[in-house]
Amino acid sequence: MVRPIVKYGAEVLHQPAQPVEEITGEVVQLARDMVETMYRAPGIGLAAPQVGVPLRIFVVDITLGHDPKGLITLVNPEWVEREGLQVEEEGCLSVPGFSASVARPQRVVVKGLDLEGREQTYEGQGLLARAFQHEMDHLDGKVYLDRLRGIRRSLLVRRIHKRIKAGTW
Ligand code: NI
Repeated sequence: MVRPIVKYGAEVLHQPAQPVEEITGEVVQLARDMVETMYRAPGIGLAAPQVGVPLRIFVVDITLGHDPKGLITLVNPEWVEREGLQVEEEGCLSVPGFSASVARPQRVVVKGLDLEGREQTYEGQGLLARAFQHEMDHLDGKVYLDRLRGIRRSLLVRRIHKRIKAGTW
């Protein structure tokens, strides 16, 4: 089932998500719905807070579903390694209509549980590293705008607040 994606300003996006204590049928269904919602959007990643659920789960697929091996679902993800630096244009399904250049690690290693509760480790470089970092930020209550500084950040935030006020967000 495709779930509605919540937008910047919703409380659930701006507070840390809670660890998953047990991978129940409900959690599995949530993850499946997140995959469907991500592909429908379409997007290359989605975190549970983006569908209004404050749990530490994200899904990533930089192939947009073209390669069945491209889909990664991680529960309670943790960093193993992060290194290097890349700066690329980035957007977010919860911040539609906006994008900005964001500094991210060039390479990351992340581990977490799959939906069977087995530990999985993934290495990502470039776009995949960026996607992992972007989704992990969501689990920590951050959106990419929070990674911007100074006038670049305040300009974007002001434009979003205008839309929220106007009821067009
Ligand atoms: Ni996002």
